This record gives sequence, C-alpha cells and structure tokens, in this order.
Amino acid sequence: MSEKYIVTGGAGFIGVNFIYSLLKKDSATQILNIDKLTYAGNPNSLTFASQHQGYRFLKADIIDEKLIFNALDEFKPTKIVHFAAESHVDRSIDGPDAFVRTNIMGTYNLLKLAFRYFDALTGSQKDRFRFLHVSTDEVFGSLGKQGFFTEDSRYAPNSPYSASKAASDHLTRAWHKTYGFPLLTTNCSNNYGPYQFPEKLIPVILLNALEGKPVPIYGDGSNIRDWLYVEDHCEAIQTVINKGKTGETYNIGGANEMSNLRLAETLLTLLDEIRPKKKGSYLDLISFVKDRPGHDMRYAISIDKIKKELGWQPKESFLSGIKKTIHWYLEHEGWVKGILSGEYKIGRLGLGEALKNVLKR
Ligand SMILES: NC(=O)c1ccc[n+]([C@@H]2O[C@H](COP(=O)([O-])OP(=O)(O)OC[C@H]3O[C@@H](n4cnc5c(N)ncnc54)[C@H](O)[C@@H]3O)[C@@H](O)[C@H]2O)c1
Repeated sequence: MSEKYIVTGGAGFIGVNFIYSLLKKDSATQILNIDKLTYAGNPNSLTFASQHQGYRFLKADIIDEKLIFNALDEFKPTKIVHFAAESHVDRSIDGPDAFVRTNIMGTYNLLKLAFRYFDALTGSQKDRFRFLHVSTDEVFGSLGKQGFFTEDSRYAPNSPYSASKAASDHLTRAWHKTYGFPLLTTNCSNNYGPYQFPEKLIPVILLNALEGKPVPIYGDGSNIRDWLYVEDHCEAIQTVINKGKTGETYNIGGANEMSNLRLAETLLTLLDEIRPKKKGSYLDLISFVKDRPGHDMRYAISIDKIKKELGWQPKESFLSGIKKTIHWYLEHEGWVKGILSGEYKIGRLGLGEALKNVLKR
C-alpha cells in the first residue's frame, strides 16, 4: 500500500527536492504539501509535482489550528515530514520574531494536532504512522579546529535561527518522551543543489559571478561548513523515516568540510571552465565584506550512527554535486529570473541594524 505523506514547507528548497524524490521512488505516493508560501516558498518549483494525480497543495500557515486540524482529518497521512521553517540565519539576526513564531510556535501547533490525530488511530494505521522533524546541525553551536558533532553533542545554539530550531527539537523530544508520539529528528549540515533560494551562499556566489558582480565573502572566509548535496539529504530522510528507531535523532552530513573561501574558489574555478568569462577569471570578483555577528567558526558532523545503523551514506562528492548544481542554475535561468524580478533583491542582510532600529522605536 502506498504511503500518504504530509510535507510541510514543501515549496521551499529541500521540501521541493524531497517531494520530487518521493514521486521518483513511487509515483503512486499521495502527498499533501502544506506551505504558507513565504518569500522562500515558490510554486514555480513544483510544476513537476502538479502533474501527479496524488499530489495536492494547501496554502496554510502551520500555526493555523483550524486549517491544520482539518488537513489531518481529511487527508489521513501515514507519514508527516516537517520542513516548514524560517531558515536564513542572516534574516534571523535582523528579525527574530518570525523565527520564534514559525519554528517554535508553529512546530508546537503541528505536534499538538498531529498527536491528537495519531492518538485516534488504531491497529496497523497506528503502527505505521511516523512524524519526522527536519532540523539542523547548527543547534550544536560552533566547533574549534578539532572534533565532530555527534547525536550526543551538547545543544549550544548561537543565532536566533539555531536557537529557534533547538527549541523545536526539544519540543519534538518531549512529545516522544511524554506522549509516546512516534517521532524521529534529523540534524543535517548545509545543503546545496537545485531550487535553492538565491539568498543562500552557493546561489549568491554563482548568480553574482554570472552577473559580473562582487562575490561577497564574510570576514576572511575561514569559517568552515560541511556541505551535503540536497538529493542525498532527501534519501537520508526517507531512510530515517522508513528504518529509523522512533525517539532517536540522526545526524546527516556530507563529509565535505570546507572553508567558505575555498568553496567560493572551487565554484568560481569550475565556472571559469563551464561558462568562461569574456575577460579574466571569476575569481577576480571575490570581495571580503564585514563578518556576520556571532558567526559560528566551524561545523563538522559525524555520520557514523546513520551509516552503521541504517546503512545510509552520501552518494555525491562535493565536486560532482557542485557541477550538477552549476549546470542546473545555468539551465534554469527562467526560474531564477522569476524570483529576481519579484520583490526579492540580492543584498546584504544580517548585520542586525534592522532589529536595532525596531528596538529604538
Ligand atoms: N537549507 C539547509 O542547508 C538546511 C540544513 C539543515 C536543516 N535545514 C532545515 O530544513 C528545513 C527546510 O529548509 P529549506 O532550506 O528548504 O528552507 P526554505 O526557507 O527554502 O523553505 C522553507 C519553506 O517553509 C515555508 N514556510 C515558512 N514558514 C511557514 C509557516 N509558518 N507555515 C507553513 N509554511 C511555512 C516557506 O514558504 C518555504 O516554502 C528547515 O526546517 C531548515 O531548518 C535546512
């Protein structure tokens, strides 16, 4: 029997890729995508899904009790995957309100109503139900030169974004421990790939370079991130929801640690080969800008648990994944233009000035 998935935030970067991966695996999967369509949600990314009979879209805020209650009762999911969130660290520095509202209160509302729905199930319906909460490795804070985040690392979030995600992780944990809700949580490193909104590091580098604009690197570019190709993340989520043990958390990463500067240099060098500039190299566009306040120095993640217990590991190397990503953006100029011709403009966020101005009033 095919699954019935509720996917929250399925019009965003990872959600779109996840829906795509579900339909690719089993085109008979039924999916209800619940998304508020904030600036980050893009219906143009979902044209492939709309052609599937089992796909439905509901424009709703996860904090809306009535709409979520009705959606659960009518659709009757066998699985829920919760992506919906405010996700950009720089925006959380300028305006934390939306992060607290969606990531904490919205997740709380979803847990509360989903548990009520689950509690009324019986027999095999109850046994097969799962709720997977998608989270980030940023909840663990910042690492020094050595070591890796594991599932047992101490929570030490540093930005309003990671603090709000940490709060949602704690609520998720409590709903399992207190109510026996069959939950799983994944904490993943930085994703990249098709459909990523142009404000995130890799699309910013790529799109600025193609337009001949400066490529901004925060501070001296030495901050280190682990990078995972989004399709690998989607497969890991499917693995965890199907094979993972309820109540457990699983770290997901790409084993691709890299400084932001090296990342930019690698990407721009590849771009020189794939779409050469008329004169000079894209590398000449690198421009160092003021650092992000509270910028975490290093993230690195151990994937030993998911590898040993569930048999998942990433398929893409950074080089193969970034080449696919470059080609995807070059072949989807219309998708990018659709965003850049709207209200969104690529620009510097996250210096905290916007929040200071609100507090002064
Ligand atoms: N992007 C990454 O590198 C990364 C890494 C680890 C974990 N995550 C987590 O994965 C999830 C998805 O990330 P993403 O990069 O796809 O984010 P995104 O910003 O691209 O998409 C978020 C989606 O959620 C929707 N949304 C926002 N608020 C909502 C609300 N109140 N109700 C309903 N829908 C709402 C938006 O419209 C959008 O479609 C997030 O929970 C994020 O914390 C992301």
